[in-house]
Amino acid sequence: MEDAKQAALPAAPAQEQRRVFPAGLLRLSLGFLLLGVGVGLSAFGLFLARHSEAVAAAAPALFRPCVAAPEEGEEMELERWIRPPARARHAMTDEELLWLASSAPRARGHRGYPFRRVPKVAFMFLAHGPLPLAPLWERFFRGNEGRYSIYVHTMPVYRANFTSDSVFYRRQIPSKVVEWGQMTMCDAERRLLANALLDISNEWFVLVSESCIPLFDFNTTYQYFQNSSQSFVMSIDDPGRDGRGRYNLNMAPEVYLEQWRKGWQWFEVDRELAIAIVRDTLYYPKFKKFCRPGCYADEHYIQTMLTIEATHSLANRTVTWVDWSRGGPHAAHPATFGRGDITEEFLRGIRGGETCMYNNQNSTMCHLFARKFAPSALEPLLELAPTVLGFG
Ligand SMILES: *[C@@H]1O[C@H](CO)[C@@H](O)[C@H](O)[C@H]1NC(C)=O
Ligand SMILES: *[C@@H]1O[C@H](CO)[C@@H](O)[C@H](O)[C@H]1NC(C)=O
Ligand SMILES: *[C@@H]1O[C@H](CO)[C@@H](O)[C@H](O)[C@H]1NC(C)=O
Ligand SMILES: *[C@@H]1O[C@H](CO)[C@@H](O)[C@H](O)[C@H]1NC(C)=O
Ligand SMILES: *[C@@H]1O[C@H](CO)[C@@H](O)[C@H](O)[C@H]1NC(C)=O
Repeated sequence: MEDAKQAALPAAPAQEQRRVFPAGLLRLSLGFLLLGVGVGLSAFGLFLARHSEAVAAAAPALFRPCVAAPEEGEEMELERWIRPPARARHAMTDEELLWLASSAPRARGHRGYPFRRVPKVAFMFLAHGPLPLAPLWERFFRGNEGRYSIYVHTMPVYRANFTSDSVFYRRQIPSKVVEWGQMTMCDAERRLLANALLDISNEWFVLVSESCIPLFDFNTTYQYFQNSSQSFVMSIDDPGRDGRGRYNLNMAPEVYLEQWRKGWQWFEVDRELAIAIVRDTLYYPKFKKFCRPGCYADEHYIQTMLTIEATHSLANRTVTWVDWSRGGPHAAHPATFGRGDITEEFLRGIRGGETCMYNNQNSTMCHLFARKFAPSALEPLLELAPTVLGFG
């Protein structure tokens, strides 16, 4: 990135040029050195792509990296344009990233894509640092390569150290500080969506946290999104102080009080809605300016914006189960479950203990994920997963 910018600088006047020549030469040789390292790394990446399941998982068969750059005179084929980035790290600023993702390709209407495309579910982990429940997720993903992709946002100082056989290996995206309840939380969500949009195969985008667990096997989860005519964003009109009470009159005319919505943060959106969120420049400034503490942006921004822009695409409910019953009606945080809470009965209860609407039908399958689970819950969860959750 830097090298390209350097190279594009206009030539300095002759005098100047002579004076800086040695430094320029040094920069030039450094450039070649870096280029060499880059080529080496790509070759290494190719080696991994061919020999490692984990890397292959990030690239479906059609989009495997090709070996050679096009020869002089050779036409570039479509597959070279649509190949997803091989790793999640990049050097783009948020501004550059959102711009790029805003024009990410999509299929309009029923025409579909002019190539064979296996749609994928993008799992976007919004975490502080480590993923203590990763072993459970590893089992959930195992055997489903090519139908999912993973993106991890953490505190910027945190460096994940997953090994190359992990599904989380090199899936950390460039991240920034997130403050609870602030617009920076929505920034992180948009950053995750934008990164995931760069892979054309990603069709459904799910936001999860380090304390979330999957409740069903991968195929069931995948089909639940695939079969649904709507996206799972919780959006309700709450007349109380934690709902309409957080509305600020300055939001008008972009958002009027009757349009103000609330819902838990953990959403699932399709590609169309994901693009709508990353390209938004209408509602975002209003929320950034007028939804401040007392108003929790992550409970209102996406919910309100999508309700105005795409009302009929929303199921108005989330697929992530959570228990707010402990701590009273205005509790700031939901219940956390640890080792002692994990029983077969408990898990069966959250898998099928409610009724909801699914494609305009009554259904008892309302939640695909659940939170919040402490690291101590991992062991009993791994034990019960094969019999109760259907994987592992
Ligand atoms: C990764 O980090 C954990 C905890 O910080 C540490 O126990 C482990 O040894 C590290 N693994 C590698 C491969 O560096
Ligand atoms: C899940 O679905 C895929 C693709 O349809 C299929 O190949 C695989 O056998 C299924 N796995 C299970 C465990 O049913
Ligand atoms: C999705 O639809 C297919 C085909 O109609 C059906 O066999 C499958 O059970 C459905 N899966 C879910 C989770 O709704
Ligand atoms: C979701 O709520 C909106 C109003 O905010 C309503 O128009 C829409 O019909 C609701 N969708 C479903 C599936 O209930
Ligand atoms: C769903 O269930 C409710 C009550 O349990 C019932 O009144 C309603 O008719 C059902 N709706 C459908 C579409 O089956």
